[in-house]
Amino acid sequence: MKYHIHTIGCQMNMADSLRLASELEKLGGASTDEIGEADVAVLNTCVVRQSAEDRANGWLQRVGRLKNGDHAGLVVGLMGCLVGVKGNPKLARAFPQVDVFLPPSDPTALLNCIADRNQLHVERVAVARRHAAQDGELTLPLAQRGRLVSAHVPVVYGCSYACAFCIVPFRRGMERSRPVGEIAAETRSLAAQGVREITLLGQIVDRYGCDVKDGPDLAQLLRVVHETPGLERIRFLTSHPNYMNDDLLRTVAALPRICEHIEVPVQSGNNTILLNMRRDYTVEQYRSLIGRIRVHMPAGSIACDVIVGFPGESAAQFQDTHDLLAELKLDKVHIAKYSPRPGTLSARHMVDDVPAEEKERRRKALDDLQAGIVADINNRLLGERAQVLVEDFHRGKWRGRTRTNKLVFFEDERDRTAELVDVEITWAGPWSLRGRLPDASVDAPPPLAVTVA
Ligand code: SAM
Ligand code: F3S
Repeated sequence: MKYHIHTIGCQMNMADSLRLASELEKLGGASTDEIGEADVAVLNTCVVRQSAEDRANGWLQRVGRLKNGDHAGLVVGLMGCLVGVKGNPKLARAFPQVDVFLPPSDPTALLNCIADRNQLHVERVAVARRHAAQDGELTLPLAQRGRLVSAHVPVVYGCSYACAFCIVPFRRGMERSRPVGEIAAETRSLAAQGVREITLLGQIVDRYGCDVKDGPDLAQLLRVVHETPGLERIRFLTSHPNYMNDDLLRTVAALPRICEHIEVPVQSGNNTILLNMRRDYTVEQYRSLIGRIRVHMPAGSIACDVIVGFPGESAAQFQDTHDLLAELKLDKVHIAKYSPRPGTLSARHMVDDVPAEEKERRRKALDDLQAGIVADINNRLLGERAQVLVEDFHRGKWRGRTRTNKLVFFEDERDRTAELVDVEITWAGPWSLRGRLPDASVDAPPPLAVTVA
């Protein structure tokens, strides 16, 4: 059985697709990049913005034509936020080419369908899955075993925050933290298969444990994960300004394997817009948080998300966002144009009144501002040495990231995959850095010992 998975959207979807691939291979599946060769094709969807939904529609039309043509036996799965935790009966009518609908993070329906069709013992599959989920252990798909350097591990599913613009709580459900033991087991199994870096994921990752009575918090989880043998780096995202406490910041600063990189969205630099977005913090509080992060991690980097063109955002209110970013000089800003999402508070009660061309103008203004800021930050790295974890070989160069999450390219004859190397930065652009290896690399770990159950 050959399977093909196409993933749209965030790192959480990438993690869900990885687990799905792992489970399909337990049923004897082998991955293929060619959908025409596949017996099973799955689309993992995102609905955060209309553009992501449009891409899903395009894929489903193509697959529909394939099924109506010479590939009638193809089993099609639709997974993720388009389906949602509660499912959506309208989808079956809209997309008759889909055989199985899968909520986010749960591949059971597809596994049972394949087990049925292949006359595998469904109950045995279900028991094996429950067992694996309780263990937390994850066997990497064959194509990634010994090659995947950086992996994502969900630690909190869903979100209970309900920002006015956001559809995620409707589709991914209430916040649910995974048990520490399960996360630790998954991390250990990934490290044993060659993964050197993990990123712990949650919509508000620093609310980890808040949904469990006397539950552990993110700082405690980080201390546990930090002890994973073979793991070189740990990251976590996304943080929310209201939950980044000093204990967490001290933990990040103190533990050497935790990278000094924080992703903490601001969304707007204007207090009225923040209030209308239901974000529950002010610009002053966000500014003070950035100051605290910089005290704890003076050499760290900070990324944020911003939405431009939220309902009612005036030119002056947008200018407040522009001014805040100009003042804070963050390392990375993910800029999104507001897109009304069905069912959200803003879509139901606010008018999407900023014209498309004005949203684009605001997006571009922030993009241009940020390009200048990042060029300045990166130029300061010229001539410096940066520790890079090498992820892969891309267009004739080795590619990896610094601890502060900056992309670095360098040349070398040797296979450097999964090594930690010191690179001297020789060129700096706004989106990436280039460098060269000094005479010797440092801290290169021993060759990968790949042990797979
Ligand atoms: N939990 C994070 C936080 O506290 O902001 C963000 C998670 S959200 C799924 C990821 C990003 O998508 C948001 O930061 C926001 O910038 C963007 N986003 C969410 N809903 C959006 C919408 N309706 N229109 C445009 N961008 C949106
Ligand atoms: Fe969305 Fe806000 Fe949660 S942006 S994922 S509702 S923190």
